[in-house]
Amino acid sequence: MTVLAGRFATNQDLDPALLRKAFGFFPSGVVAVAAEIDGRPVGLAASSFTSVSLDPPLVSINLATSSKTWPDLQRAPRLGVTILADHHADVCRQLAGAVEHRFDDVAYSVTDEGAVLLDDGLARFDCTVYREVEAGDHVLVLLELHAVDHIEQTEVLAPLVFHRSGFGRLDARA
Ligand SMILES: Cc1cc2nc3c(=O)[nH]c(=O)nc-3n(C[C@H](O)[C@H](O)[C@H](O)COP(=O)(O)O)c2cc1C
Repeated sequence: MTVLAGRFATNQDLDPALLRKAFGFFPSGVVAVAAEIDGRPVGLAASSFTSVSLDPPLVSINLATSSKTWPDLQRAPRLGVTILADHHADVCRQLAGAVEHRFDDVAYSVTDEGAVLLDDGLARFDCTVYREVEAGDHVLVLLELHAVDHIEQTEVLAPLVFHRSGFGRLDARA
C-alpha cells in the first residue's frame, strides 16, 4: 500500500487489534436489538446497524459468532431494534455487559409478538430475520421490517455515536 510518510501507521499483517483500531475511525450509531424470551428481555448493543433496502424493507446487523445472546434472539419470532439517543451511553454499556443486568432501569415496551423496544429511542423497528450470511468471525444478519416508528422531527435529539472505541458527539448538522 502506498502511504504518506509519517501520517499513517501501516498494518501489513492485518493484525486484529490494529484492524479494530482502523475500523474504529468509521463512526456509527448504536442500536439495541432485543426480544422477550421466556418472559424476560434479552438483547445486546450493536454498532453494526445499517439500512439496506426499501423494498423489501431491510436493515442489517453484524454479530460475532461468539455471541451467547444471538442464538436466543435468533429463535425469537420478532426482534426489536431501537436506535439509541446520545443520552444512552450508560444504557449502551449496560446492554453490552452482564446479561442479567442488561435491562436494569431501562424503560422498554414489548409488542404483542415479543419485540422489545426502548421507550426513548430515536427510531424503532419491529423485525424478523430475513437471512443470515456467514462472514468470518461474524454473521451478517439481514432483518425484515414489519413496523417502524420514530420521534417527531421537531424534537432535537442527537443519536449516540460510537467512534474510536468511545462515545462521541454529533455536532449541529450543516
Ligand atoms: C458500542 C457497542 C457496540 C457494539 N456493537 C456490536 C456489534 O455490532 N456486533 C456484535 O457482535 N457485538 C457488538 N457489541 C458487543 C455486544 O453488545 C455484546 O457485548 C456481545 O455480543 C457479547 O455479549 P453476548 O455474548 O451476550 O452476545 C457492541 C458493544 C458496544 C459497547
